[in-house]
Amino acid sequence: MQPRTSEATASVAPPTLIGGEIPLIDVSGFLAGTPGAAERAAAELRFAFENVGFYYLAGHGVPQALIDLAYAEAARFHALPLDKKLAVKVDEHNIGYMPIAQKPPPNAAAQGKKPSQNEAYFLRREKAPDHPDVVANRRFHAMNKWPDEATIPGFRANMLAYMGAIEGLCRKLVRLYALSLDLPETFFDACFAEPHVIQRMSRYPAIDGADDTVNSLVAHTDSGFMTLLPPNKVQGLEINLPDGRWLEAPGVPDAFVVNGGDILHRWTNERFLSTPHRVRNFSGQLRYAVPFFCDPNHDTIIECVPSCQSADAPAKYPPIKMGDYALWFAAQRYEHMAKVQAPSEAEIAPGARATSRWQS
Ligand SMILES: [Fe+2]
Repeated sequence: MQPRTSEATASVAPPTLIGGEIPLIDVSGFLAGTPGAAERAAAELRFAFENVGFYYLAGHGVPQALIDLAYAEAARFHALPLDKKLAVKVDEHNIGYMPIAQKPPPNAAAQGKKPSQNEAYFLRREKAPDHPDVVANRRFHAMNKWPDEATIPGFRANMLAYMGAIEGLCRKLVRLYALSLDLPETFFDACFAEPHVIQRMSRYPAIDGADDTVNSLVAHTDSGFMTLLPPNKVQGLEINLPDGRWLEAPGVPDAFVVNGGDILHRWTNERFLSTPHRVRNFSGQLRYAVPFFCDPNHDTIIECVPSCQSADAPAKYPPIKMGDYALWFAAQRYEHMAKVQAPSEAEIAPGARATSRWQS
């Protein structure tokens, strides 16, 4: 199939807005190659990112059984004895198990919040011990820290199957992102040929709704390009709409919740929103989440895309390497990363960022 060329697509609201606000975008036609479906989905995507920063993704083709498996594995991992989880404790590559923090990281402290009440386990792209990046101890490119197979049989294979399916979907979706920005359809293909991926597996205990200083996950924007949250039976995600209201994101069967992050925001000269969100688990039961973060590879230079700048609207940010940005972000966000050598704020020039609304 010949790649489509860029063509101006209007920003069009899809027929369904979940909660009256969040677009539901069905990509089944695009994935099937139906004529006109890509352009229609791209126009809806543009509407979603220019107005909300979140959308629900339907028609994605990921089997529900695989999604159920990922949730089951999150529950199985977190049910392990603490010593087994601490045996794969998170490291300087942000790979492994992260207990609930003892003191709030900077972004929580800035909001007067206690540490986020969730424990998490992080995986990245699977690598062999002789991979050049592993040998070189390249930041964020180390081997995954899997628990012993005997401790949790099948866990590794199941999670790699899930991650592979979601990554494959993301690599197709980036073509819609390119079209939505009036760029050639293949614009993002090279930097997502082997994307930088992070699979997070979180367990949220129920929290007391009366204590406003405690969130399950404090308000934040995501750092990267694309976050996919599979449909969750236990609600708790809340989205800070551009007009300032907090909206509980309803669960929609079979639809992923997808949002953009700060790199997408920066790459598009702030045209596409990186919208703050938080989690509060008031359900009275444990809540699990298995978000998948898909970023361009860390060698990618993030420089304002051609269609988002002009003589009247020049680029607001200097070019930056994706890996440098990721390191700066992680050093701020995570207690265990606070002491690593990271680029300075001046080097990163993060700008006002979407978070300025709730940091002030
Ligand atoms: Fe997030």
